[in-house]
Amino acid sequence: MRLEWRIGLAATAGFGVMMRVALAAPALYTADQAKAGQDVFAGNCAACHGPNLGGDEGPALAGPSFAPAANHLTVGGIFNFITSQMPQSAPGSLSHVQYEQVMAFLLSKNGYPAGTSALDYAAALKSAAPLVSTVP
Ligand code: HEC
Repeated sequence: MRLEWRIGLAATAGFGVMMRVALAAPALYTADQAKAGQDVFAGNCAACHGPNLGGDEGPALAGPSFAPAANHLTVGGIFNFITSQMPQSAPGSLSHVQYEQVMAFLLSKNGYPAGTSALDYAAALKSAAPLVSTVP
């Protein structure tokens, strides 16, 4: 096998690994946060966004219509929006803990796995992690 070929194959294999790492959704919250967030969502968001995040008066908050890869959303971008603009009827009215929880719930409904470290309010505001929904 010629050297250029081998380099080419190694580069292709490396790229494949990089793509898989980039595509695997990171664990950004705990299961407890998402569970609590379901109640926060039901009480403060579902009236406009639908009980299953499918949208109503407000847009859907799960699936490709919410977070397609092409939109290049970030966790921080959406969290900034939610904490400053939502609920639309009373922006900024939830506690930091409730915003963390509802964000965890939203991530869980978009294909992000629960992990061992909790989503933190200040860190989430600055998070550059891509927000791309992997649910249909
Ligand atoms: C009174 C109705 C209402 C309530 C309650 C409400 N929203 Fe919204 N929301 C909207 C509307 C309308 C929009 C679209 C207009 C806009 O982007 O400003 C929106 C937009 C959004 C977006 C941006 C969606 C996108 O595709 O860009 C997110 C995220 C969001 N809301 C999250 C929440 C969360 C989380 C809650 C609960 C804490 C909530 N909203 C409560 C009406 C509401």
